Amino acid sequence: MKNTTISIQIEVYDKQSELTNNEQKLLTAASEACQKAYAPYSEFKVGAAALLDNGEIISGSNQENAAYPSGLCAERVTLFYANAQYPNTAVVSMAIIAMNKNGVIETPVAPCGACRQVMLQTELRFKKAYDILLVGNSSIQKIKSSKDLLPLSFIGEGLLKGKK
Ligand code: THU
Repeated sequence: MKNTTISIQIEVYDKQSELTNNEQKLLTAASEACQKAYAPYSEFKVGAAALLDNGEIISGSNQENAAYPSGLCAERVTLFYANAQYPNTAVVSMAIIAMNKNGVIETPVAPCGACRQVMLQTELRFKKAYDILLVGNSSIQKIKSSKDLLPLSFIGEGLLKGKK
């Protein structure tokens, strides 16, 4: 038996002004998207924005439904839309922000497991790691790859292709 350790690096920023101009633009897009969320059930609004390799910024928000599981998180709304519109264009960076009745939540929002899986697949699909900015009111965390958000991930290895 041997032990193995997985560690991830997170850059922590206290102020938005420490980010690059592009990152600040992305954060603004995520924040604007957040305000457009449809979250009448949870009243927890999430906004995401993705900067693509072609310079476009695609944003999205969580969309809830009376049949609860039919709703979708902001991250997946954003990435699925981006990939549907630009199937050959990689994501360069992504920002995620969330707010409740009291405003932007204090600690950076952490994407749910299903969104992490989709974020990872987007990275694998385009063979390009992208930065993820998790935005909170008191700090911003920057993660350099969605692989870091989902260690020991399912990447589809062993799925049967072209089976007889
Ligand atoms: N939600 C997101 O949009 N992204 C996440 O990463 C976590 C949760 C949404 C789903 C639901 O509409 C609301 O937040 C409460 O869970």
